[in-house]
Amino acid sequence: MVPDEVPVIAIDGPGGSGKGVITHKLAVHLGFHILDSGALYRVIGFAARNHSIDLDDEPALAELARTLDVHFEPTRDPESPLRVLLEGTDVTQALRTDEAASDASRVAPLAQVREGIGALQHSFKQLPGLVADGRDMGTVVFTDAVLKIYLTASAQARAERRYNQLIDKDISVSLHDLFESIQARDERDMKRAVAPLKPAQDAYVIDSTDLDIDQVFALVLSAVKEKLG
Ligand code: DC
Repeated sequence: MVPDEVPVIAIDGPGGSGKGVITHKLAVHLGFHILDSGALYRVIGFAARNHSIDLDDEPALAELARTLDVHFEPTRDPESPLRVLLEGTDVTQALRTDEAASDASRVAPLAQVREGIGALQHSFKQLPGLVADGRDMGTVVFTDAVLKIYLTASAQARAERRYNQLIDKDISVSLHDLFESIQARDERDMKRAVAPLKPAQDAYVIDSTDLDIDQVFALVLSAVKEKLG
């Protein structure tokens, strides 16, 4: 690595694979910045609704993406490590709803939207370094990342984790419905034409199906040590 180069660690993988937790733990450990790129697609969907922009109107969505007034602030809550401010208003909770996820999955496949947030995503690359969480961080946005991790787990394991999280919050759900919606989301993310979800050729793939979060973090840390010293 050139001494003044900003190191980027890309963490990609399917929804529910634990990328968010690992990204946060790693960024805290290294004192690096965080890019939650999924939150950007959620914000675009949310802002589009606020501005009465149709979710099929690609040019208008692209313009929104290019001019998005969004800021992330770190919090002390590991369950929700970033506060998202859209046009000065805290929209963190609103972005976690199923509606926001579904709107995000409609705007994310649009090529002009993805291009529109390119510069914004790159603006997160600042010293001392960046941990970037998403689907295409290592394959498209930060192809020069010093370390690319692809974190995955079986759909069944991810559905069970989500089920247990919701049950802990006294929210009753069907494990079967969760499994089906995770499979449908994987299919959409992996089969889309633009920036499909896949491991970068030089990615370090971690399958967390039979690992707990501490075991995954230990593997990530040893990979980081190897690359960053
Ligand atoms: O990770 P998430 O659930 O917050 O992502 C929201 C949506 O954005 C989801 O449909 C996948 C998509 N996404 C993407 O296409 N590219 C990224 N780099 C991150 C998320």
